[in-house]
This record gives sequence, structure tokens and C-alpha cells, in this order.
Amino acid sequence: MTSTNRSVIITGNWKMYKTIEESVAFVKELIPLIQGSPAHVYLAVPFTAIQSVAKAAKESPLVIGAQNMNDASEGAFTGEIAGKMLVDAGAKFVILGHSERRRLFRETNNFINKKVKRALLDGLKVILCIGETRDQRDSEKTHEVLKAQLEEGLEGISSEQLENVILAYEPVWAIGMPQAAGADVAEEAQAYCRKILSEKWGEKPAEQMVIQYGGSVKPDNAKEFLDQPDIDGLLVGGASLSVAEFSKIINCYNSSYVEGI
Ligand code: PGA
Repeated sequence: MTSTNRSVIITGNWKMYKTIEESVAFVKELIPLIQGSPAHVYLAVPFTAIQSVAKAAKESPLVIGAQNMNDASEGAFTGEIAGKMLVDAGAKFVILGHSERRRLFRETNNFINKKVKRALLDGLKVILCIGETRDQRDSEKTHEVLKAQLEEGLEGISSEQLENVILAYEPVWAIGMPQAAGADVAEEAQAYCRKILSEKWGEKPAEQMVIQYGGSVKPDNAKEFLDQPDIDGLLVGGASLSVAEFSKIINCYNSSYVEGI
């Protein structure tokens, strides 16, 4: 575990799952199970559930957010949602640049960068997802891809604004798989991302940046990732849909880390 003072943030990404009723029942069951956790726990829920879940989580440390938004402040964009609408519903953060959005909805680094800027202007924290595909890794393009996603995705963002950005390294080939990436593979990539941040924004913002690992995180591998010096949290998809699994993952980060035992 890192020797710096970075927070540990564990985020659940529900993707397109759960009705309002299911979402509220989930958080009511989860909250007592994670009381006293030293980790910060974020939950990215469907748009329809943000308001009800934010209300149900009001007296808890749980932070509620969204999984996407448009780059415009408002306008004639049928079917889209604005950052200020998310804030209005109770969202505190938004996930941007998830590989499913890049791949299935053709989102580019440039478009993601516009969304990052808008989200920060609207007062949302951003979880920016980056990561290479299997082909890119096999052709030794991982560093090149991560560098472009970082530099283009965060183009024009000041080091002060970076305080409201969290990175999530999610190798595309490890998402929704029976097997996660090796913790050593993730650590190498995340240390590289920190180096790029340091070169472009300076040592201090790079040292302060929370970098999560995402891709098939489960209760039995979560600790291995959290033990790495450049892994400061987790972005959990499938396993965050189950109260039992998600609470176990959160509780992997326990007082032994904080006390440095
Ligand atoms: P997974 O998803 O944990 O189901 O692999 C991670 C993600 O897509 O954020």
C-alpha cells in the first residue's frame, strides 16, 4: 500500500442494471455492512435511480454518482443528460470515458475531454477511465494508448482541477472476465500513468492522484490490488451488483492498511 496520503476510493459501477426499488433496497442493506470503513465508497447508479438512492444514502458516507453525461450545458440533444441535471438529482461524481462508451458509442478522447471539462465546471468529480485493448497490449502499444488517453482526455485541465479527477485504469481485456489482470500488470501500468501525470502536470498532482484499478475485481482478488503502491482504489462492475460481494470488497480495505500493520 502506498506510503503517501492518498485516499482509497472504491467505486461500484452498476452499468444498465437495477430499478429504483432495487437500487434503494441495495443501499439500505449495504450501508450498515460498511459502517466505519476507512475506504471512501462511491456508487455509480442508473440515471433514474440517482435521486432516490442519494436520498436513501443521505446520512451515510456513500457517495452517489452517474455513469455518463453530455458535454453541453443544455440544449436540443434528444435523449442526452446534462451535468447540472445530475447535480440536481444528487450526483457528486460522474464516470467518463468508460471502455464500453468508447467502444460501443464511439467516444473519442477529444469528446471525453469536453465532457471532463463540463463535468468539472458543473461541480462534479470525474472518474476518467483509461485502458488498452488486448490487441493493443499484444502489439506493445499499451503505454502509447495510455499516454494519449491521459494527455488528450485531460487536455487543458489545470493541476488545481486535477484534484477533482480520479483515474481508473481498466484494461479492456480484463473487464467482465473470469480472470482479472495480474496485480503486477496493473501496478506497472498505473505507475506509468503516474509518471505521465508527473511529466505533464508536475510531481505533486501526480502524487496526489487517486488511481483505481478496474476489471473483474472480486472479493478474492481485491486485496492483491490494494496492496500495490500505485493502486489507490477499485472500480467494480459485476461484483458491485451484489451487496455480499461489494461489501466484502470494501471491507478488504480495513484498519490494517490504515495502521500500516
Ligand atoms: P467488471 O467491470 O468488474 O464487471 O469487470 C468493471 C467496469 O467495467 O467498470
